[in-house]
Amino acid sequence: MIPAAGRGVRLGPGAPKALRGLGGTPMLIHAIRAMAASRAVSLVVVVAPPDGAPEVKHLLDEHALPERTDYLVVPGGETRQESVRLGIEALPEDVAVVLVHDAARPLVPVDTVDAVAAAVRDGAPAVVPALPLADTVKEVEPAATPGEPEPVLATPVRARLRAVQTPQGFDRETLERAHAEVAVDGEGDAGMVERLGRPVVVVPGHEEAFKVTRPLDLVLAEAVLARRRANDGF
Ligand code: CTP
Ligand code: MG
Repeated sequence: MIPAAGRGVRLGPGAPKALRGLGGTPMLIHAIRAMAASRAVSLVVVVAPPDGAPEVKHLLDEHALPERTDYLVVPGGETRQESVRLGIEALPEDVAVVLVHDAARPLVPVDTVDAVAAAVRDGAPAVVPALPLADTVKEVEPAATPGEPEPVLATPVRARLRAVQTPQGFDRETLERAHAEVAVDGEGDAGMVERLGRPVVVVPGHEEAFKVTRPLDLVLAEAVLARRRANDGF
């Protein structure tokens, strides 16, 4: 499942983030191709902007996608959590494993997708790809006025921290229960599974699975694409 219903406020004004171009192709199409490239993926459910399902269906028809994969487009909601829930409701009954992948991570390598799917198939109810942090993280008392100095409360040991990415993989029943029983505002899918008391495991993520969030991320994404195209030429 690919939640793609966000506006992309932090990226600045323009089309919904998932529909913006990267190397001349919408970010969403890159994300769909990355997921469909995995043998573990037989169906891609795209959660489109609330009023953008017809446009997304049209995009899927326009771009070449692997034919052994099925595609489904459903309208999303106001929050990512609601969008994922709407995606879950659209899943055919025979689907037992669900990978939830941000359209905003268009360049995830297929090996990462495969690794997450494999860990779920091997029995983990919830799997998140993640990387160690480059920066040290401080917990602070947030300032009432932005820009004011903020007192440091604690410094978590960096070696124990991980920055999580997508696709995140779930046993379907676990993901459904998480959304039905412990859907807390702002909580991600894996966080809700933790609240359910079920184990969540981390597998290695990949630096190219970074999220396109701010304008500088687009510069990085274009550079990664250019590097791939240059390497493919050899
Ligand atoms: N998403 C979604 N439905 C929403 C909000 C977000 O499907 N109502 C999706 C986005 O399309 C994106 C993923 O969740 O693929 C991660 O969200 P984020 O990177 O925060 O994207 P946006 O919410 O679009 O960006 P911003 O927060 O800057 O507005
Ligand atoms: Mg957002």
